[in-house]
Parts: sequence; structure tokens; C-alpha cells
Amino acid sequence: MRAAVIFAAFAAPPACAISTTMFNTRIKIKDVLATEPAEQQVTVMGWVRTFRNNQFVALNDGSTNQNLQVVLTLGEFPDDLLRRITTSASLKVSGTLVPSLGKGQQVELKAVTVDILGESDPEKYPLQPKKHSLEFLREKAHLRFRTNTFGSVFRIRHSLAFAVHQFFHNKGFLYLHTPIITASDAEGAGETFHVSTLPAGNPPRNEDGSINYAEDFFGRATNLTVSGQLEGELGATAFGEIYTFGPTFRAENSNTARHLAEFWMIEPEMAFCDLEDNANLAEEFIQYLIRFVMENNADDLEFLRTRLLDEEKMKPQAERSDLDLVQKLQFVVDNKFERITYTEAIDILLQSSHYKKKKFQYDVKWGIDMQSEHERYLVERHFKKPVIVTGYPKEIKAFYMRQNEDGKTVAAMDILAPGIGEIVGGSQREERLDRLETRMGEMGIPTEELWWYLDTRRFGTVPHAGFGLGFERMVQFVTGMGNIRDVIAFPRTPKNAEF
Ligand code: 4AD
Ligand code: MG
Repeated sequence: MRAAVIFAAFAAPPACAISTTMFNTRIKIKDVLATEPAEQQVTVMGWVRTFRNNQFVALNDGSTNQNLQVVLTLGEFPDDLLRRITTSASLKVSGTLVPSLGKGQQVELKAVTVDILGESDPEKYPLQPKKHSLEFLREKAHLRFRTNTFGSVFRIRHSLAFAVHQFFHNKGFLYLHTPIITASDAEGAGETFHVSTLPAGNPPRNEDGSINYAEDFFGRATNLTVSGQLEGELGATAFGEIYTFGPTFRAENSNTARHLAEFWMIEPEMAFCDLEDNANLAEEFIQYLIRFVMENNADDLEFLRTRLLDEEKMKPQAERSDLDLVQKLQFVVDNKFERITYTEAIDILLQSSHYKKKKFQYDVKWGIDMQSEHERYLVERHFKKPVIVTGYPKEIKAFYMRQNEDGKTVAAMDILAPGIGEIVGGSQREERLDRLETRMGEMGIPTEELWWYLDTRRFGTVPHAGFGLGFERMVQFVTGMGNIRDVIAFPRTPKNAEF
């Protein structure tokens, strides 16, 4: 009986169910531009980029950088309306789709009705219809999506996020949501943001003067996560293969073009997996993401390619790259990544004329945590392609990495990319309980607090491995944007949390 009623409702919708709202008739400009013009009636909505000669509106709705030319026949629209068509005003236009007489586009919209949805005072609107510097646009991050550069960057960012899920879903990985508030510092680097509801000026104290977190919201000290890995390992040792994709937070005071205090990271974690499997997966993953964007965002890539060529023209010949953006991406998907050990990397640096001519600012010797100048030398000057470096000294890596038999190195891997430096950090994990506990002891990491993590090693431990891909660094690599602040919508960096 119930089913019949529902069926009836679907079969004969009451008249009022047919929506008459204004938005349901809208066609996206990207789709309009791909349509063969045959005098169809269409409605578009968007923001004015430019308005010329009281006749030609370049309308953009964010679906593509290509504007739709809307033609207002002279004399058909009142002056009062024409005056209100200004840059960034929002319009609803209905009209007829016709072949375009102007160059640069196949179709244009001959306007029949024009509604101004929202005016924009040209005296006050902060962006001019001209090129602004990226630095200037960072101060106007609330409006920069309305520029071509940021339109392209954020559509590509979206595609990359979608491709991340598609890649892992197709491989049977489970998407695990790891917590954002945690009591652990996964990387053990102490660069966490505290989360507390205690009164900042006057927190309750223990007898020894330390803060009494027992009275805090969670009854203990907590912080924003720096990595979902430890919880990811719990998932992997049950589901086999999981990945996380979420925001992570680091209170490191690094004011560089590659660091954010809030960034997004993708962390796959695989049981029954060693370092080589891990490196293979990371390489396949990066190539998949790039290929996805090349196939699905060709116009946006083309826009960024040209943008970058223009930017390079300002540089001296010697500093310009041999390959343009699209050629660079093609090269990365067509060629295997280089694989070397940390020890080999240090040897290459020591043998380099760059080192001999004392051109590195930081010293090179076995045991150093390579600086960005060293990493970039390896990928940009020496190998000219992405490089997977394995077997780092245990002293410079996290407690959970699997110890190699030499007693000096761990089964770590970093992937270094041209123009970026480190884009992936990962490792095979120490699955042997005794070794892990010993290393934690040496590094001063309290085993009692991580009892739940150690339980994976107590109950059916397995060889396992994983890595973290910095999502913004990946977006930088694909878009060619030089500064990480320009590939995340609202960057969080030291002394900056506007918007
Ligand atoms: O090398 P990291 O610190 O590795 C981890 O967090 C591991 N738990 C990952 C794992 O094995 N599951 O960070 C991983 C990546 C780096 O290679 C880099 O791309 C990015 O995260 N990253 C940052 N990106 C932007 N801003 C920062 N401050 C970043 N710190 C790391
Ligand atoms: Mg790292």
C-alpha cells in the first residue's frame, strides 16, 4: 500500500512540484561554449569581466576561463541598465545562441533580457580588468577566485582531489577519516598547535606549577594533528589498505614558498607491504594524478603554461627552464623516477662542482638532514627528474621507521620533485615490537601513551608501509605556481590567518 502511494506521487507530481525558481534553467558557460549555435534560447548567469562599447559583455561563471560574449543590441536596452553593467556585477541573461562574428569564439549570446542580480561599484571593486601581481591578489584572497589564474589553479586543485579518491577507490583502498584533534604528536617533532578550553591567562596549575590538563576539555593535553599516520596504521592492520586525505597542522615557523601551517595531506598505509612496494605505489600515484589533470583540465593547463612562459620571459636566459609546464608534466608521466640511497645522494653532492665551488649555503656530509638547496640540486641539476631517496640516517627520521640491519639507517623514502623539493615523505614501519619500543625509549617517546599504537605490534603484526603526499605541493607541481600560498584558498602561515 505504502509503495503504491509513493509510486503514485512519482508518477503524477502535483503541479506545485514543478519548480519555477530562477536558477534551474541556468546553463554553465563551459557547456554553452561547447554547443553548436542554432538560435537556441538559453539562460546564463555569471559575473561581468568586461563591458565594451555598451554592447559586448564578457561574462564568466567560473566553469572555465573562457568568457561568453553577450551581445546587447544598441538601442534595445535602457541607458540606466547599461550603466549598471560594470566589472564584477552579476547578471542573468536570457537570449539566443548564435554563431559569433567576432574572433576568438564560435558562439555568442544575443541578449533578449538582462537582469542585474547584484551591482558592483567600479570605484570600489578592488580588482581591475588587468593583470595584478600574485602578492596583491593574496591580500584580496576573497576575490582572487574571479581571476583567470586562480580559476585555473582551483579547478585543477579540485580535479586532483577527485583523482586522489578515484585512484585509491579503484585499487580497493578504504578512505579512513583520522581525527583532527589528537593527544599524540605523530612525527615527534613537537610542532603542534595546542587545543584547549582552559583560560589562557590563568589556567589551573598542578602543585609543581605545570598546567593541570586534567581540568581541560578532554581531560588531557591535546593538539591539532600533524599527520593521520598512526591512526592510519590501525586501519591498515585491519582493512589491509587505507588512505587518509585531510587537513594537517604544523606550528613550524617556516616562512617559505613551500610551507603552510595548515595543509592537506594524503596518507596511504598498506599492510603486507615493504619499502619498494611503497615507492612503486607513490610513483604510480603521482603519475596518475598528473595524467588525470592532463586529460581533464587541458584548457586550464594551457592557460597556466602560457602564464608561466610570460613569467619566465622576465628571467635571464640561463634561469629559464628547458621544458614548458605541459612538457614537464608529460616528461614525468613518461619516465621512471630515479631511485638512489641517501648515501649515494650525499656522494653526488660531495662530488659536485657546486659543492667544490662552495656554492651550497649549508654544509654537506653524511648524517645531515638535506636542505632544500641540496634536494633541488639533485633533482633540478643532476637528475632533471623526480628522485626517490631511500635509507636515511635514523637520527634525522621519526621513531616509527623500520630499522635497517646496518644499525645506522632506516627504511625511509622521500620523493623529491623539480621546482618543489620534498613532495612525499614515507617509510616502511617498524613492525617488531622490541625494536620499536627500544627506539621510542632512545628518542624519549612515552610508550605508555601510545599503548594503542603498540597493540598493532602485539596482535598480529605485519610488515607495512605508507607515505604522505603534501597535497598543496602536488598542486604547485602540476600548476607551476611558485608559492604555496597561491594553491590553497585561504593560506595559514606565521602571522597570517586572514579570511
Ligand atoms: O614528511 P612528512 O612530515 O611525513 C609525514 O607526516 C608522515 N607521517 C607521512 C606518512 O608516512 N604517512 O610530511 C609528508 C609530506 C611532505 O613530503 C610534504 O610534501 C608535506 O607533507 N608537508 C608540507 N606541506 C606544506 N606545508 C608544510 N608545512 C608541510 N610539511 C610537510
Ligand atoms: Mg618529510
